[in-house]
Amino acid sequence: MSTWIPESASNLAASVDNITLFVTIVSVFFFVLISAVLVGFSIKYRRKSEDQETAYITHNSVIETIWTIIPTILLMVIFAWGWIAFKELRNPPAEAIEVNVIAKQWLWEFEYFTGKKSLNELFVQQNKPVRLIMRSDDVIHSFFVPQFRVKQDILPGSYQQLWFTPTKVGTFDLLCAEYCGSGHSQMLAKVNVLSPEAFTRWEKGDELEDGASVAAISLSPAERGKELHSQRGCLACHSIDGKEVIGPTFKNLYGKTEKLADGSSVLVDENYIRESIYEPQAKMVEGYPPTMPSFKGILSEDEVTALVEYIKTLK
Ligand code: CUA
Repeated sequence: MSTWIPESASNLAASVDNITLFVTIVSVFFFVLISAVLVGFSIKYRRKSEDQETAYITHNSVIETIWTIIPTILLMVIFAWGWIAFKELRNPPAEAIEVNVIAKQWLWEFEYFTGKKSLNELFVQQNKPVRLIMRSDDVIHSFFVPQFRVKQDILPGSYQQLWFTPTKVGTFDLLCAEYCGSGHSQMLAKVNVLSPEAFTRWEKGDELEDGASVAAISLSPAERGKELHSQRGCLACHSIDGKEVIGPTFKNLYGKTEKLADGSSVLVDENYIRESIYEPQAKMVEGYPPTMPSFKGILSEDEVTALVEYIKTLK
């Protein structure tokens, strides 16, 4: 199969390929069968003389039942199989390493939890699951690595996630798969899958043999978030040690399910924290006054991402 589709280089590739192959085989089988029957019947039942009358046929219950039941079973198989694979694609394992991805006209920026940054080159470790938390600074882009069989649109104004476990050491193409302006076709990057040893060397900041350029380590996102938390006055209302001040504490906040004032509940993930900073009254936690001002125009997307990373560390 590898001769007519890209190489498989992630844990998700096999299930995507198997379903695609199954759907293709079923489609080809029925295309050939129906075409053959069409041609065969055209010949067998053609008009044989000028005055031949067409037979009067109303229906055939047996045939109609068969051509209803068989496609129904096939579609249910495709649905169930696709659902199982889709669930896997949507649910990153808890131990996944997180990388922040920023897409903009027309480049890719990657920020690792250590504070390392890289441009148009994503560094990941072989056999270690990676969860990407992606945002766009302008228009809709799409993160696409054909060899991993993963693709996700990135919309401005929220975070989108994607995950995979790279299974092969090597360099793979990362494409933008959504038309995003005149530089769209040049919005190319590489995914470097490193062996555990090479990855450790890269994390320490050593040059790799091929001289891959790596930006210097600055403060990690969580460290920047910590600075912002005290500089921007968050601390006045949100404690970090579990104490109740005016708003909910940031301790153990990430991953928690909060009960809202309107009776519904919400999972505190990256998107909920971001929304609560920019639009504090959109989803109010039950029992707190609606006093927080919007930080739109005050905190940049970068600063919000840093705060989210900081909140995640408060366990
Ligand atoms: Cu970004 Cu196309």
